[in-house]
Amino acid sequence: MKTKDIILKKLEENRDKYISGEELANELSLSRTAIWKGVNSLKEEGYIIKSSTNKGYKLDEKNDKISTFGIVHNLTTNLKDIDILYYDSIDSTNTEAKRLLYTEDLKNFTVLVADEQTEGRGRRGKNFSSPKGTGIYMSFVLFPDSDFNLSSFDLVTIRAAVAVVNAIKNKTNQNPEIKWVNDIFLKGKKICGILSEADSDFESRQIKSIIVGIGINFTTDISSLDENVRLVAGSLNEKNLLRNELIAEIIVQFHKAFYKMEEAEILKIYKDHSFLLGKIVTFERNSKNYEALAIDINDSGNLIVKMEDGEIVTLSSGEVSV
Ligand code: BTN
Repeated sequence: MKTKDIILKKLEENRDKYISGEELANELSLSRTAIWKGVNSLKEEGYIIKSSTNKGYKLDEKNDKISTFGIVHNLTTNLKDIDILYYDSIDSTNTEAKRLLYTEDLKNFTVLVADEQTEGRGRRGKNFSSPKGTGIYMSFVLFPDSDFNLSSFDLVTIRAAVAVVNAIKNKTNQNPEIKWVNDIFLKGKKICGILSEADSDFESRQIKSIIVGIGINFTTDISSLDENVRLVAGSLNEKNLLRNELIAEIIVQFHKAFYKMEEAEILKIYKDHSFLLGKIVTFERNSKNYEALAIDINDSGNLIVKMEDGEIVTLSSGEVSV
């Protein structure tokens, strides 16, 4: 590990107090000059570090730079050894995960995290605006045959949405809602989107891997987003919460939602936080627009709506608006 990385690890583990240059030097068996140089190169990378001649070094409270050490420090012990890949900038964490599936021997539950995406992707071929330094862009790589039973692909996104909702609720006092299938809303605005993609074996038609991408507007200035999403987009804007902390909580909740929680429990939480149930929704079918009352979400994750004439219709995917 590079000197600056060892220093960063120490600073992340001691966020609430100063560590003296001497203590760092002794503990890491390095010279005071090496510590000073390491701290400077971290500052050049954008870490905000307070230095005091008497007290030493400390990460500034305002430092919200994502780092693997900062994430790992906030993870529960059982998850501390998962693989986390961090990128300052990448086209898309989902696209990068796909590339890595061909070139690397990825572990199940590898997480990719980026500070910026230059070609972030949303559902239906849409772009996902991913400005630098203010959002969370992350992807999980799962090999479904290892642990869980994939009965319906929509349920993957539903489990992921429940994980994000639980994470936000645990870390803030806010009450997020889920707009079927994959959007998380806060105070009527979209703050998070989820894109799940599967890679299946052509011959056996078996799903080999799943990539679940999550994009959150954390402290995002809405005017920095693509024009076409500004009207519906919002941002979490939670004071005293760091991106590393929320990323870690999402990882913890994602693990629970995929490996520990029964489908019934997942669907209950999903429905309890639904943004659509009980509302009149509009949707498109065979190039025609319809209005209907959203009445339920069934066990496969489909949205059940009641048409004006009383007909019950099951929607398995698609854009629905209120
Ligand atoms: C949507 O709103 O339609 C889904 C948006 C999903 C965005 C996330 S950000 C991390 C991952 N990488 C991507 O390119 N997309 C997903």
